[in-house]
Amino acid sequence: MSINKQNFKRFDKQVNELLEKMTLKEKIGQLNQSSKAKNPEQQKKYEDMCRNGEMGSMILAATSTAGNTDEYKVYTEYYNEFQKIAVNESRLGIPLIFGRDVIHGHRTVFPIPLASACAFNPELVEKCYRAVAKEATAEGIHWTFSPMVDLTRDPRWGRIIEGPGEDPYVGARFAEAAVKGFQGSDEDDLANRDSLVACAKHYLGYGFSEGGRDYNTTDISGYTLQNCVLPAFRAAVNAGCATVMSSFNDINGVPVAASPYYINELLHGELGFEGFVVSDWGSIRQMIREGVARDLKECAELGIKSGVDMDMDLSCYADNLESLVNEGKLDVKYIDEAVRNVLRIKFACGLFDDPFREFVEIDKKPHIELAREIAGESMLLLKNSNNLLPLNKDEKIILAGPFSQERHSLKGSWSGDGEVSIITTMEEAITEVVDANGGSLVTVKNDIIYNKASLEFFKNDGVIVLALGEGSLVSGEANSIAEIEISENQVQLAKEAHASGKKVVGVIIGGRPLALQPIEPYLDAILYAWHCGTETAHAACDIIFGDVNPSGKSSVTFVKSTGHIPLYYNELLPAKKINSYYGTENVIRTTPGFSGYLDIPAVPMYPFGFGLSYTTFEISAPKVNTPSITVEKLKEGECIEVSVTVKNTGTRKGKETVQLYIHDIIASYIRPQKELKGFKKIELEAGEEKEITLPLGYDELGFFDERGNYLVEQGDIEIFVGDDCMTKNKTKITLL
Ligand code: BGC
Repeated sequence: MSINKQNFKRFDKQVNELLEKMTLKEKIGQLNQSSKAKNPEQQKKYEDMCRNGEMGSMILAATSTAGNTDEYKVYTEYYNEFQKIAVNESRLGIPLIFGRDVIHGHRTVFPIPLASACAFNPELVEKCYRAVAKEATAEGIHWTFSPMVDLTRDPRWGRIIEGPGEDPYVGARFAEAAVKGFQGSDEDDLANRDSLVACAKHYLGYGFSEGGRDYNTTDISGYTLQNCVLPAFRAAVNAGCATVMSSFNDINGVPVAASPYYINELLHGELGFEGFVVSDWGSIRQMIREGVARDLKECAELGIKSGVDMDMDLSCYADNLESLVNEGKLDVKYIDEAVRNVLRIKFACGLFDDPFREFVEIDKKPHIELAREIAGESMLLLKNSNNLLPLNKDEKIILAGPFSQERHSLKGSWSGDGEVSIITTMEEAITEVVDANGGSLVTVKNDIIYNKASLEFFKNDGVIVLALGEGSLVSGEANSIAEIEISENQVQLAKEAHASGKKVVGVIIGGRPLALQPIEPYLDAILYAWHCGTETAHAACDIIFGDVNPSGKSSVTFVKSTGHIPLYYNELLPAKKINSYYGTENVIRTTPGFSGYLDIPAVPMYPFGFGLSYTTFEISAPKVNTPSITVEKLKEGECIEVSVTVKNTGTRKGKETVQLYIHDIIASYIRPQKELKGFKKIELEAGEEKEITLPLGYDELGFFDERGNYLVEQGDIEIFVGDDCMTKNKTKITLL
């Protein structure tokens, strides 16, 4: 049976039988997640709690911002010690579930999610997350706090790295792929030892932190929430995601963790979620700070009544729920419901039958190969003047820039368990290629910043490769930045390189889409290599030297400058003529009546969906199997089929992502100028052509109003098919 059925309630008989035997204390214990013990006293306290049934879960982290902390320990024995006490010494023997932030890799690190979304290859993403699950479960981890599926429109926000970018459709496909990869694609897979319980986070709206400042308030209309923020969570839930993490933020003044509407009504009710909700780190007790609760007791009451089932760290539930019940302020039904949700997943993932784990040595070689493959598909070729790339392997290379010998940052944030020692630097990866092929490399050592002496190197013969960008400590949790321009000294370095008269390739390492306008003129080619994990440098060299034809397409808009933010492709039609959107001229408009800025051309630096290849593709005009269809027929499951012929018109084999966008011309609400509603990545030999068909059905052709009613309205809809969101290649259909 497909996991899409969301059938966790099938365990309710066992769950209810167990629930009946539980004391109030034991019930509350299941809702309490402790962090790793920080000292021997805490260790002893936690052991006693396990013995008394007062702990349901443990998160293997000691601080809330573990995302940027390297820690290479294996904890299998540590878990088992607690598990033995819980299973063998507690009255009911209910096993603990151990969670850890295994975000985009464990020992082998895959690209940051923002980058892997650019691969536009959900099947490959699923395979990678399967590999991640295998590595993490081999060490005894049951549960990961991933995937993060927060849509964001603000690249200043450090946590942009963790999510799939700005588009709800891409977000949904990424969410499904990651969940299936972690958990397996069949509902019974969750009980396999190599399945990792997934957690879609941060529910809800965290990516809209105002000004990109982490943990900030969010103000989101119901319309945006329904159409842009929710789809990835809906997809995760439909893919069988067993847990969801509530977010730190409020939405329009209501903390999500204190909102029965967002959790009970929307998540459990409308989305049909049957698993359990864990709070984010301390986000129950933070309600005091937010000024919606007087004390911890009120925090606990708000959280549990809203549907947050498990309290991550800080024992707010553990210390307060019992007295709330005893004082008559809390009906025990809220606790029972939460315990049911937790136990359901403990049964579903097989913990009662198989609570202990031993460390299993696994072969990571295939994972490293996969990491290289997806990194190669995630990187973006943004510029390639006169087909400078690919370089010949016997080329003379002059390598400079702050990331030429960097290892650690290539992993990206939230990869604390990733092994740094197995990461290759750009210098090492280029050396491997040129040494084996009669080329050469000189590296400007330790060139952390632009430095005059190092410029002497540019007098050598060859092509200059600059490894530029930003490190992993300026992205991730609590690491937002106010200006996303690439740093001045790097621009200066590129200027000097350019002034040498040699060809200059910029390989940009980054966790966010940096504003490249100041540096772009000095780079003949730009490969945006992101923080692509363990195999970043190898994958970049595969592209630079032509073993891999680049195929990444940006899942996020690249702005020209920080002041451009927010700029996203699926914005609603503005009231006056547009000079802020894709498709208008790259000039500054000074005439009145335009929506845009007076001091900057408002088209993006690189639009959503953009990425070059070493070959060229032609996409024919889209054809539809029928020019019109009734809304009733769509509702019954019929589709419009949109077909195009894609031809590789260049001289190399390559992959193209065909993207289908719609625009609802007249609707009861203003609709986005374009919305992605389908894509397909295909590989074609030089000269080869293929017809591909993408379906458009009921789910794609409508939208939600601010209250969550789904509307499919009669009228004309433009259908665009192209290689990025700027495409003008279109046809039209009519919904009757
Ligand atoms: C983060 C979560 C993370 C949790 C546990 C929080 O600070 O927001 O994403 O899963 O810590 O480490």
